[in-house]
Amino acid sequence: MKVLGIVASHRRLGNTEILVKEALMGAEEQGAKADILRWTDYHILPCDGLATCLFGGTGCALKDKDDHNYLLEKIYECDGLIFGAPCYLLEVPAIVRRFIDRLFVLMSSPPPTTMRQKPAAIIIPYATRGWTSYAFLQPNLMMLELGMAVIDRALIHIQGMSEATDNQRALDRAHKIGITLAQAIKTGDVTYRGEPGICPICHDRNIHILKDNQTVECGLCGIRGKLSIESGKIKVHFPEEQVKWHRFSEENIYRHFTYEIKPSKDYFIKTWPLLKEKRRKYRDYLRIDREPVIPEGRG
Ligand SMILES: Cc1cc2nc3c(=O)[nH]c(=O)nc-3n(C[C@H](O)[C@H](O)[C@H](O)COP(=O)(O)O)c2cc1C
Repeated sequence: MKVLGIVASHRRLGNTEILVKEALMGAEEQGAKADILRWTDYHILPCDGLATCLFGGTGCALKDKDDHNYLLEKIYECDGLIFGAPCYLLEVPAIVRRFIDRLFVLMSSPPPTTMRQKPAAIIIPYATRGWTSYAFLQPNLMMLELGMAVIDRALIHIQGMSEATDNQRALDRAHKIGITLAQAIKTGDVTYRGEPGICPICHDRNIHILKDNQTVECGLCGIRGKLSIESGKIKVHFPEEQVKWHRFSEENIYRHFTYEIKPSKDYFIKTWPLLKEKRRKYRDYLRIDREPVIPEGRG
């Protein structure tokens, strides 16, 4: 039973690293073999936005130029994942988003079937109460794209450098997450055990009110439902078919890729000669002559 810990924090031996390690210790108590990666030690190029990963048939064009593929394979190889990232300005650090952008390739080449419902847990240290609204958004997005099941997650209030070492409650919570994850791997029970949210898929509370002012939607999962107030409490009812067809369900990803993304290739090929001509005006206006970050010929 292999459990991988990911630390997506720039602070070495910061709270994220300590809490992820504590969770791994908990998993090891249950018989897991632990491994850890600090993402900030690796090179992850930004997605170049050319979408050749979707149309070229050869995967991500940057896959041999940096460590993204290696990091992805490490997730594919483990039996369970403990993902840690600090809260940064209501979300998590940009390295997480950079990794996720490069997962665009999964639209055309889905993750191996072994990834389906593979258990994961998320640990997010944060400093200020009320400043965490979107902290789970990117980690949830990543797990959904990978087809993984988040079985537990925690926002852990801890601020200063390595302060987690001196906060037994924080350590205990992280330790328990590791134990729970290992048990989920052993039993195959990937039921969500974290704090309940509003969305039954991502368990978050980031609900959008649509323009009809009647329907609400989970901004991440795209499921729509009706809001009501029962005994003074806000409730949202999401119909079963919405839950089944959430944005990241296999069926929906297939539909999105096949009917919305794929046809754009032919359209692009047809219109490219005209667009190439028309874009000259914008190339020549206020010319931007800085060297591109992305290798020449790919921009
Ligand atoms: C750039 C930056 C932005 C931050 N933004 C938030 C925030 O929006 N909300 C919050 O609660 N804490 C915020 N924090 C505090 C960290 O989440 C907190 O100190 C955490 O324990 C750091 O974990 P680390 O030691 O692994 O880096 C921020 C820290 C930094 C450096």
